[in-house]
Amino acid sequence: MSTVAVVGTQWGDEGKGKIVDLLMKYADVVVRFQGGNNAGHTLVVNGEKFVFHLIPSGILYRDKLSLIGNGVVMDPQVLIDELTTLKSRNLDITPAQLLVSDKAHMIMPYHKLLEAGREQAKSSEKKIGTTGRGIGPCYEDKMCRSGIRVGDLLDTSFFKDRLNEALKEKNFLLKGLYGMEPADAGAIYEQYMGYAEKLAPFITNVSVMLDEKHRQGKNILFEGAQGAQLDIDHGTYPFVTSSNTTAGALTSGAGFGPRRIDCVIGICKAYTTRVGCGPFPTELSDETGEHMQVKGHEFGSTTGRKRRCGWLDAVIVQDSARLSSLDGLAVTKLDVLSGLSELNICVGYELDGKRRNYLPAIIAHCDRLKPVYTKAKGWGQELTGITAFESLPAEVKDYLKTIEDLTGVPTMIASVGPQRDQTILLKNPFSSDK
Ligand code: GDP
Ligand code: IMO
Ligand code: MG
Repeated sequence: MSTVAVVGTQWGDEGKGKIVDLLMKYADVVVRFQGGNNAGHTLVVNGEKFVFHLIPSGILYRDKLSLIGNGVVMDPQVLIDELTTLKSRNLDITPAQLLVSDKAHMIMPYHKLLEAGREQAKSSEKKIGTTGRGIGPCYEDKMCRSGIRVGDLLDTSFFKDRLNEALKEKNFLLKGLYGMEPADAGAIYEQYMGYAEKLAPFITNVSVMLDEKHRQGKNILFEGAQGAQLDIDHGTYPFVTSSNTTAGALTSGAGFGPRRIDCVIGICKAYTTRVGCGPFPTELSDETGEHMQVKGHEFGSTTGRKRRCGWLDAVIVQDSARLSSLDGLAVTKLDVLSGLSELNICVGYELDGKRRNYLPAIIAHCDRLKPVYTKAKGWGQELTGITAFESLPAEVKDYLKTIEDLTGVPTMIASVGPQRDQTILLKNPFSSDK
């Protein structure tokens, strides 16, 4: 029996969905524990592509259980839409396969409006470039104790009371601050009671369920969203998301004790990407960046925005190794680098002539950072057909070795294409031999 967590080591979109789907073969249960439908996790199985925003990426295994933990902020319409899409693809999901925490906070229509108002009010260089899904305002309400939770749907008068209470303040903000129409309590009530009817059978106490599964000796996989540099505490604040994205978040976000985690895997794209605004020291605005963007199809899975691309930044991956106590790395998208004759890996920065090995906490100082690079040999060979580590070109093995040396974390998985089977599993994290 083992528990394995998968987290992003960069600014998200590292390929977590693909790796979760792959590892689900060895797991019985998969759990999302933070974020919401700002995430977009892509899997390609037998040529068929799926993108999940809320439903865990293990859902394609019909006889296994997917859980949405209390730390997730849940837009009920998005969950219903994902279930409908799966049904149209012959996957009719029942509560035997998917359950949602009664303690997860719900994204309400006014969260999206408030987020839009706030972003609009900012000058262009101050905008966060959020996904616009209402994530931040929903987490704010959770923290200031005005939130409405999934379980509240099961008690109509309690729900109504919570909604009326929340709207007192929200309508003041919508109207007074942003000049928007106030939200209509009656319309929201009707809309959410419609969701209640559809979602009631899926609502449970996820922490209790996980404990039960753990005691039964089941293998559990935790699916992180976003990446370490988007973490509300440790990321490039304020250009971050509104949750903790590092491994520790799973304990509070799923209600699972920290001593029960056996292995943490960091997903690391072989180069770096970022969607939205904020510092990105190794960003490339030349033809190499263009190569990564085009060959890697780097468009956001949630908003369709072009992803910014740049060299691998080993400093931030090392940061993630420390923050999440990574046991192993899954290095993805190695195939995208084929055709580049020389590669750079960032090993540190210079700030005002001084060397430093982590990003400054004051984001304004990031503009003055100069990345320090080590060079690696590129490779011409296409990698997408390679299924064994031994068959990888020597330059790829050297690149992986350099990443291991710089981060102190061994490679467990090497990914050479978007498909489930385009993956080389060097060490199975669910096997007990450490
Ligand atoms: P996530 O948010 O971390 O799950 O990542 P996304 O799904 O947003 O973005 C990763 C993209 O890269 C998706 O389109 C995946 O299908 C794709 N992908 C994952 N691994 C690989 C790989 O090794 N090679 C290539 N070419 N694409 C990959
Ligand atoms: P996955 O799980 C990449 C980014 C947004 C924006 C910032 C804040 O697919 O890796 P938010 O809507 O969360 O308040 O936006 O965070 N962001 C992501 N970038 N991948 C994600 O998720 C992201 N989720 C949020 O682009 O810059
Ligand atoms: Mg994504």
